[in-house]
Amino acid sequence: MKKTEFFEKNEISLRFYAAKAIIEEAASLALSMRPSPGGPSATLKGRQDYVTEADRAVELMVYNRLSTLFPDDGFIGEERGEQAQGTYRWVLDPIDGTSNYARGRNRWCISLGLMKNDLPVAGIINAPALKEIFTAIRGEGAFLNGKPIYAAKTKNLDESMVEIGWSPFVPLEWWQEKTTAILNLGSMPRSLGSGALALADVACGRSDGYLEKVIYIWDVAAALVILEEADARISPFIKMGGIEKRTTILATAPNIASQLSKALGVELG
Ligand code: IPD
Ligand code: CA
Repeated sequence: MKKTEFFEKNEISLRFYAAKAIIEEAASLALSMRPSPGGPSATLKGRQDYVTEADRAVELMVYNRLSTLFPDDGFIGEERGEQAQGTYRWVLDPIDGTSNYARGRNRWCISLGLMKNDLPVAGIINAPALKEIFTAIRGEGAFLNGKPIYAAKTKNLDESMVEIGWSPFVPLEWWQEKTTAILNLGSMPRSLGSGALALADVACGRSDGYLEKVIYIWDVAAALVILEEADARISPFIKMGGIEKRTTILATAPNIASQLSKALGVELG
């Protein structure tokens, strides 16, 4: 290994392990603040678009910790936007699946990605109510609670399961068209309210695909590395301008990738 590669690997590992510990603390904080089951306990940013006290508290805590440890790094967070720029950039969704969180459900997570320039190099998705932590460092594999994970080997569409993300930014006609396409393929549709966890499900083989018309970089930054390391196929989210604006994503299991890509009208990278 060249000297420069060795130093780069160390820079990424150092950041990853520090961040993993910080996100474990942040996950405990979020869990301790989770509302009890019931109607949504949150502020509406727009129709079906929630923010809770925990979103803000987790983002502030993670930002403060990371910027103290790595003052030259950039940071993008869902609630506070872009805070700083740098060669390394952290991308945080403090609570992904806020609509679930706000009703006391379990399907939500904290998602933290690390990019070097514009390349995602490490990712952590911590879902404390599910007791699941997905992780990856570029070139070193993807893991769920420390065990290696891989995208499903599904070949027969009649056995496949595909999730479609919904947000208020999705036009009704698009949703109807894509749901019909998935059903016509023989696939089973799902929509469970957390983009990051839906992508993690593709990475670990629980699902064969995830499609969302427009999704933000903080929802997908961690998952992009986890998916690649798990041998899933992904649309070229960053090349399509995904850092600057919300963009389409398709992630699929490898053996049915071309069929899903064609049927759903989204090219893969
Ligand atoms: C949302 C969730 C949802 C997805 C949206 C996201 P939030 O994030 O991931 O499943 O469809 O695109 O914005 O609001 O829960 O952080
Ligand atoms: Ca989110």
